[in-house]
Amino acid sequence: MAIEKLAYPFPWTAGNFVDSIRNGYRTCVAMLEGEIVGYSVLLCALDEAHLLNITIAPQLQRHGLGAWLLDRTIELAGDAGATCMILEVRPSNPRARALYERRGFIQIGLRKGYYPNGAFRREDAVVMRLSW
Ligand SMILES: CC(C)(COP(=O)(O)OP(=O)(O)OC[C@H]1O[C@@H](n2cnc3c(N)ncnc32)[C@H](O)[C@@H]1OP(=O)(O)O)[C@@H](O)C(=O)NCCC(=O)NCCS
Repeated sequence: MAIEKLAYPFPWTAGNFVDSIRNGYRTCVAMLEGEIVGYSVLLCALDEAHLLNITIAPQLQRHGLGAWLLDRTIELAGDAGATCMILEVRPSNPRARALYERRGFIQIGLRKGYYPNGAFRREDAVVMRLSW
């Protein structure tokens, strides 16, 4: 939660994490010198994996950890039997979009007004997919 609150203007709540774990969603945790520095949350259903959250601690971003964690998360999805991964990303998040594009994700759609964006405002989500 400490990382989540620093990393997002609209962070997940502790309840979102607890519900994900209770529901059996898969998670990856990146550790550095015994400390959690990043994590991802993945919902696998049949042959499709949905990346719900991927976050690196702000002070450690831009050192390749996000790319590393994304690769581990894709491996986890493959081990669970998935043959593709779907995710949503804000158009205003160029770093995350660039990371996904470099890994081979392509845009497959747009969800209108998907994200909260302050009082009474919403932001669209770019929907991306990687198949293997
Ligand atoms: C998106 C996110 C997970 C990426 O993690 P990251 O660790 O910063 O990613 P990487 O370091 O692997 O790559 C990101 C950038 O760092 C650069 N980079 C990688 N290694 C580097 C290094 N050794 N030195 C300098 N820059 C480096 C990459 O080229 C890339 O640059 P660019 O996108 O600005 O061109 C992270 O920024 C994050 O947690 N953001 C907030 C939460 C978020 O937006 N999550 C995604 C929601 S869809």
